Amino acid sequence: MLFAREIAGAPAIDRAGLETRLVPAPHANPSTTSPPTSASPQPVPKTLDDVPGWFSWIDQQLFRWSLEHQETTRTPGDLLELGAYLGKSAILMGEYVRDGEPFTVCDLFDSDSPDEANQAELRRSYKTLTRAGFETNYLAFHDELPTIVQAPTAEIGEHVRPRSCRFVHVDASHLYEHVDADIEASAGLLRPEGILVCDDYRAHHTPGVAAAVWHRVVAGGLRAICATPKKLYATWGDATPVQDALLSWLGTRQDCWHQVQSVAGHRFILVNAQRQRRRPTGDADPRRLGRQLERERRAREAKQRELDAVRGSVSFRVGRVITAPLRLLARPVRRS
Ligand SMILES: C[S@@+](CC[C@H](N)C(=O)[O-])C[C@H]1O[C@@H](n2cnc3c(N)ncnc32)[C@H](O)[C@@H]1O
Repeated sequence: MLFAREIAGAPAIDRAGLETRLVPAPHANPSTTSPPTSASPQPVPKTLDDVPGWFSWIDQQLFRWSLEHQETTRTPGDLLELGAYLGKSAILMGEYVRDGEPFTVCDLFDSDSPDEANQAELRRSYKTLTRAGFETNYLAFHDELPTIVQAPTAEIGEHVRPRSCRFVHVDASHLYEHVDADIEASAGLLRPEGILVCDDYRAHHTPGVAAAVWHRVVAGGLRAICATPKKLYATWGDATPVQDALLSWLGTRQDCWHQVQSVAGHRFILVNAQRQRRRPTGDADPRRLGRQLERERRAREAKQRELDAVRGSVSFRVGRVITAPLRLLARPVRRS
C-alpha cells in the first residue's frame, strides 16, 4: 500500500485561461514539470482537489448536473470512462453509480500501447502513471473499485454491452485516429438519450481531438449540448430537452457564465465559471496569488499618487479654502 501511495502523483504546471489555470496541464512538456519520484511521496487524497488531473471546476459542476439530471429524468444506464489517469473524473462519476448499472473505466495505465504514436504520447504525458496509483486514489473515496479494463480503448466494445450506457467520458488518447474511434464506439455503447463528453475538443495541443469532435458535430449526427473551455457535451439523441433543462439550471447559478450561440444551425451553449468565483483553497497557486498581490499593490500606489497630485493642485487648495466655513459648520457640536 505504501508503494501505491508513493506513486499516486502527477506533474503540475501553469497555463493561461480561467479554467485551465485551476488544474495541472495535460500533455505538459516534461522539461517544465517536476514529476514525482519515490523521493517525493504523494499522500492519499482527502478531497478531489488533492487528486492530480485536468478536471476543472466548471466541468465538475456540469458532470454533476448531467448525472443528477439523469436521476431526475430516471434515465437508466451504465457509466463509462475512456482514459482515467489518476482517477479525478472517475472518482466524481463513481458517486453516481447505481446498483446493477456498472461503471467501467478503460486505461492503459502502466501497460504499453500497441501504437507507436500513442506510446510516445503516454511516455510524454503520463510516464509516472500506474494502475495502483488510480486504485489508491479511487479507494480513498469509494468502497469498491469500478470495473477496470486495462487495455487500449479500441477494445472497449468487448467489455461493455451495446446501448447500455447513460454517460460516457472520452478522455484517453488525444490523437485523431484514436479519438475518432472512441467517439464511434460511444455511438454504439450509449443509449439514445445518453450523454457523451469529449475532452480537449479545442486546445492548441490537441488538433486531432478538435478535428474528430467537430467533424461529428457538423456532419456526423452528434448533437452538441454545451461546451466549457475544456470539454464538449453532446448526445446522439435529441439535445433540445437536455439543453432546455440546462438553461433553466444555469439561470439559477450566480457562479456560472453562459451564452447561447448557433453552430451549423444547431443551438450551442457556452458555459464557464464566473471570473469572480472564489477558487477552492486546494487550487490556489502561490505564484498566481503572488502576481495578483503585486498587481493590486501597484494599483494602490497609482491611486495614492493620483490622490496626492489632486491634493497638491491649486484648484484643490482653493476649494479647501472656500469650503472651510462650511466644514466648520458641519462639525458635530461638542456638549460639555
Ligand atoms: C488526459 S488523461 C485522463 C484524465 C482523467 N480523465 C482526469 O480527468 O483526471 C488520459 C488517459 O488516457 C490514457 N490513454 C491514452 N491512450 C490510451 C489508449 N489508447 N487506450 C487506453 N487508455 C489510453 C492515459 O494512460 C491517461 O491515463
